[in-house]
Amino acid sequence: MPKVIYIEHNGTQHVIEAEIGKSIMQASIDQMLPGILGDCGGNCACATCHGYIDQQWLDKLPPVSEDETMMLEATLDMRPTSRLTCQIYMQPELDGIVVHLPEEQG
Ligand code: FES
Repeated sequence: MPKVIYIEHNGTQHVIEAEIGKSIMQASIDQMLPGILGDCGGNCACATCHGYIDQQWLDKLPPVSEDETMMLEATLDMRPTSRLTCQIYMQPELDGIVVHLPEEQG
């Protein structure tokens, strides 16, 4: 299975396997990783799944929807690499994707 690498704000790294078609948010919840809450269940309505995606992976992701942009703008520290991880579904070409977690989710 493809892997996702999560890096907490304090530098702690977690490597998990994520099923194809499952959201990166859901994969982290299933493995009880700290830093991603997914309060709205992946409906793009809470932003507690905010992550910073390593630059090299951004072009491989689907475009940001209007709803996702609105939610990201409501976060405390939106950056050009910000995405909601519930909107990223695992694909083989995302194997090894790196997600940095915001300080407020630490
Ligand atoms: S889980 Fe709520 S916006 Fe992603």
